[in-house]
Amino acid sequence: MDDKIRAEIRGLVSKYYREVLSKKPRHRIPASGKVFDENEMINAVEAALDGVWTHGRFAVAFERKMSSFLGVDHCVITNSGSSANLLAVSALFSPEIGLNRGDEIITAAAGFPTTINPIIQNGGVPVFVDVKKNTYNIDESLIEDAISERTRAIFAAHTLGNPFNVEKIKSLCKEHGLFLIEDCCDALGARYGGRCVSTFGDLATFSFYPAHQITMGEGGAVVTGSDVMKKVVESIRDWGRDCWCMPGVDNTCGKRFEWNLGDLPEGYDHKYTYSRLGYNLKATDFQAAIGLAQLDKLPSFIDARKKNFAALKSALSEFDCLSFAESEPPAEPCWFGFVIGLNDGCGFTREQMTGFLEKNGIMTRLIFAGNITRQPYFRNYKINYKVSGSLDNSDYAMRNAFWIGVYPGITENDVSHIYETFRKFMGDIK
Ligand SMILES: Cc1ncc(COP(=O)(O)O)c(C=O)c1O
Repeated sequence: MDDKIRAEIRGLVSKYYREVLSKKPRHRIPASGKVFDENEMINAVEAALDGVWTHGRFAVAFERKMSSFLGVDHCVITNSGSSANLLAVSALFSPEIGLNRGDEIITAAAGFPTTINPIIQNGGVPVFVDVKKNTYNIDESLIEDAISERTRAIFAAHTLGNPFNVEKIKSLCKEHGLFLIEDCCDALGARYGGRCVSTFGDLATFSFYPAHQITMGEGGAVVTGSDVMKKVVESIRDWGRDCWCMPGVDNTCGKRFEWNLGDLPEGYDHKYTYSRLGYNLKATDFQAAIGLAQLDKLPSFIDARKKNFAALKSALSEFDCLSFAESEPPAEPCWFGFVIGLNDGCGFTREQMTGFLEKNGIMTRLIFAGNITRQPYFRNYKINYKVSGSLDNSDYAMRNAFWIGVYPGITENDVSHIYETFRKFMGDIK
């Protein structure tokens, strides 16, 4: 009976997708967006029908499939990429790993705020170095000068899906005994020397917000090859508890009332024993169910992003007043966006250009916070940070760069419209 009703429901959901959602018109060329079919919706409905809703069979399946795609031992899902970053940095500040308030973490000055915020939230000091002008990634040649006696880690993003210089950064970490966290939120499917990004750091993070390579609506993950890191990340995600039971399960450890921890009475229920400073950053089974269907599409999404990047690069290459993001072998990007920088003396401002594109139905985005030290919250909170060297390229990114979409929904017609719009802009501006 159960199976029969589920089959009927699946059929209806499919019909709804085909007859309603798939026919919704798109009016603009998005910078990013989710691409899905009935399978994501069927999975979400199956999760609802299971009645579990918290971490359940879909979450378990997603974590397994994602780990196997990446080639990592552990994947821990969470409710956003920002939460994944908070968990990764908080894990370094846990009693097991042992970073302390005032310890320094080197990061890039141009990027997304929630790569940096967890350092501050944990009492660490972000030490900013500049990005490279052509890749917008942390400039690996500047890191050595930023290392002090208090440096404990490097936390860098593979900006817009373009891997940073893993080889050099890994060797610096080894030489100076530093942890590495890779922010792969924009870079699922990117590789370096053939290996997926996220397999190089002590910890790595992903976002599954709709703009990203796959989506759960909202969602994220921390991945790691370390059993200890996995345990710490899960604990901090789940209120900081010592217990590791799945939701709704009791006594996984087999001695729930036999622990003797902290200054608690002997045998205090392990379920309510907290050994780390925690949050609740868990994801639901609905999110995981959607993500699981998206993972099936990931290989085709990666191909489409690469193809769209190449098509835009070839279409726009005649405009020599513009520069486009480049990758440095053996990096193999899985582009998040098509980054365009205005060359000096181009004769127009970025705002003139993005305004024109937006008016013509082409959505544009900036390189996130630009030089983050110039954001108002840095002043509003009197944030304690350090800068090593100049941040000229971060300022350049803040003033002169932007990106347009390469997500799998971009079509050949879109690329033609983008090219024509650029041509018109260049003609009008002369
Ligand atoms: C590099 C980077 N890190 C972290 C995040 C945060 O992810 P989320 O929006 O899922 O919190 C983003 C968001 O786009 C990002 O681009």
